[in-house]
Amino acid sequence: MKGLILSGGKGTRLRPLTYTSAKQLVPVANKPVLFYGIEALVAAGITDIGIVVGDTHAEIRAAVGDGSKFGARVSYIEQDAPRGLAHAVLISEGFIGSDPFVMYLGDNLLNRGIVEFVEQFVKEKPAAQILLTPVPDPQMFGVAELKDGKVVRLIEKPKEPKSNLALVGVYMFGPEIFTSAKRIKPSFRNELEITDAIQDLIDRGLQVNPHLVDGWWKDTGKLEDMLEANRLILETLTPRVDGTVDAASRIDGTVVIEAGAIVENSVIRGPAIIGPGARIRNAYIGPFTSIGKDVEIHHSEVEHSIVLEGSLIHDLDVRVADSLIGRGVKIHRLPLKPSAHRFMLGDNSEVWIRW
Ligand code: TTP
Repeated sequence: MKGLILSGGKGTRLRPLTYTSAKQLVPVANKPVLFYGIEALVAAGITDIGIVVGDTHAEIRAAVGDGSKFGARVSYIEQDAPRGLAHAVLISEGFIGSDPFVMYLGDNLLNRGIVEFVEQFVKEKPAAQILLTPVPDPQMFGVAELKDGKVVRLIEKPKEPKSNLALVGVYMFGPEIFTSAKRIKPSFRNELEITDAIQDLIDRGLQVNPHLVDGWWKDTGKLEDMLEANRLILETLTPRVDGTVDAASRIDGTVVIEAGAIVENSVIRGPAIIGPGARIRNAYIGPFTSIGKDVEIHHSEVEHSIVLEGSLIHDLDVRVADSLIGRGVKIHRLPLKPSAHRFMLGDNSEVWIRW
């Protein structure tokens, strides 16, 4: 069995971060989202993995390498443009051959892994197996209609959903999917949709089986979901202090302080992680916060946020919350009057000012 991780795409919903970086490399609890997916495949015994890459291929290759650090063998498959999930399948036919495979969206996170999902597929050997989870707002997702335990219909963002079972970004396929991916036409958004390819399997009389997610699932493609994934993963950490914490500081709850981090006269309230080389001084780091490598936080308060490598937050009189802050960002106080907000923001940045 092989693994196929989709790590191309446009990432428009995470701009401006995705102008300069792959969204699959945004860290959740200081580890790139993509690494959780690779680890989930390896834990299910799948070590021959192809990664579909787009514009950000160099960065993804640099982060993952040949896969040996994960106990896997990784090949890269270049997609010229994000032409859809079924297009990513089509261009991977040479890598997959006639093996069954798991397709895993590189920005998805599943806390219970995929072992049971793979076991069910191996036992039942359908043409495809899809992973489903009940959601309160099925109009926002690809939705599956079931009959007698089989999938009879897939509808993308239905206006009147027939079920509340949304498709999760992990799929299992036999080689029949290649024929279906070749038979379908691009959708209104000009992409080859995987839901159309799976519907084609059903229309050809082939078996498509459902598997319900056990535990939580998150698609980290937008800010709120990224923060929620961060929250969920931070809750699972084992506390550890490898950095330096002075006697005037207080560490409460589940907190990881990586080697080389320095915490002075500050309160860190977990669950939180402070990355290697970070410097936290006269500050408050609140729950559900991931502070990246070499970040500086002085005289400021940050909670329920992700701050990436090398950024600094200095002398703010209002707490920073619910934020995703990129690499090398500087947020500081204006030393002189007028007391105004001052910005230098990249294209499509978004700022929320306290009312
Ligand atoms: P999406 O999140 O659906 O698409 P996107 O990355 O273009 O994001 P946005 O909607 O914000 O513009 O993609 C799911 C995953 O699949 C993600 O990891 C990117 C990857 N992908 C590809 O590798 N090739 C593709 O053609 C597409 C559409 C997505």
